[in-house]
Amino acid sequence: MNSEFTFYLPTKVYFGEYASTKVGEETRKLSQKALIVTDGNLIHKIRNKEKIEDSLNKAGVKTILWEKVSSNPPLSIAEEGAELARKEKCDLIIGLGGGSVIDVAKGISVICTNPPPLSLYLGRDKIGKPPLPLIAIPTTAGTGSEVNPYAVFTNPKRNPPQKEIMADSLLFPRVALVDPQLTLSLPASVTADTGIDALCHAIESYTSNKSQPFSEMLALEAIQILAHYLPQVMRDLENIEIRSYCLYASLLAGIAIAQTGTTLIHGMGYKLTARLGITHGRANGILLPWVSEFNLQTNPLKYALLAKSLGEEVKGQGQEEAARRSVNGIRRILAEVGLPEKLNREEIRKHTIEEFAREIMQNKRRLSNNPRLATLEDVVGIYEKALGNHKES
Ligand SMILES: [Fe+2]
Repeated sequence: MNSEFTFYLPTKVYFGEYASTKVGEETRKLSQKALIVTDGNLIHKIRNKEKIEDSLNKAGVKTILWEKVSSNPPLSIAEEGAELARKEKCDLIIGLGGGSVIDVAKGISVICTNPPPLSLYLGRDKIGKPPLPLIAIPTTAGTGSEVNPYAVFTNPKRNPPQKEIMADSLLFPRVALVDPQLTLSLPASVTADTGIDALCHAIESYTSNKSQPFSEMLALEAIQILAHYLPQVMRDLENIEIRSYCLYASLLAGIAIAQTGTTLIHGMGYKLTARLGITHGRANGILLPWVSEFNLQTNPLKYALLAKSLGEEVKGQGQEEAARRSVNGIRRILAEVGLPEKLNREEIRKHTIEEFAREIMQNKRRLSNNPRLATLEDVVGIYEKALGNHKES
């Protein structure tokens, strides 16, 4: 255990059914006029959309609705939203949607108070002035963006295109309204993808070199809940109690990665998303068993505890066998939610794997957060295993 640590969460969190209807009251405290950022394809399907509108109307706050966000947003979309926010003199941003929407809302809030382009603030701690306050209302149980200081964008100006991260403690939303009712309308595929993303957040945080007692406690709780409820939610998408547990676990995992960051799984997964169009959660899920198998020798006791939290039987097993069972647990959950644990061979070519691996080696910060130091050959080897190209030893 690291005996010294910091824990920072400046976001006020409301969790529970109809928490989203606090939006009017919370907006009124901070704002004269708010820009609501959302995804036009999603907003009309959200359960209780009318209740959110009523809450804003009753509070008497002025709002502008902007519905232009979709998945894997480019930097330019946030710059476009900020132009509207400035023109309309909005003083608060509301992000209502999944991770992409909340990340764009964060980008808009930055550019409203700092000079464009948004690319100036990519990287760590580059934001000068505090962004506009942000209220985040997640509609998926996976992002964690509502309680973390990260925003991820596609940078199409880079050739080939890359997923790039903005990380700054100024990016924590002011308020997170975390309402399981909003996740009832999610289709099975999005439920599986985002749920596995939450599981990756929890496992990456737990095994990260920056893990500490608070983040470990949150991550392990999230892992136990997701291991139990993710397979169940796939069989019962309309069950509010199960949806509540999944969203709660996603929240815990989001707070955990806010403290520790993610590891090689997200680093390698971003390449599969930016270049091959594989969804974020699915990309991470494919890599999760292989990276875990690579990492587990660094701390068999920790991985044995992970196996137990995933619901594996570890009693009477030696520590190394118990640690290996964490990978069995991960594979079982992936199978139960219907996600593949292998890449489609046609999706990726050999030379692309080496190109991805070389790029990953440049991100020293993320590499140093992974429990086991990975070489270029190791990263190539993990991608090869995810492709089913490896020879069994
Ligand atoms: Fe993620």
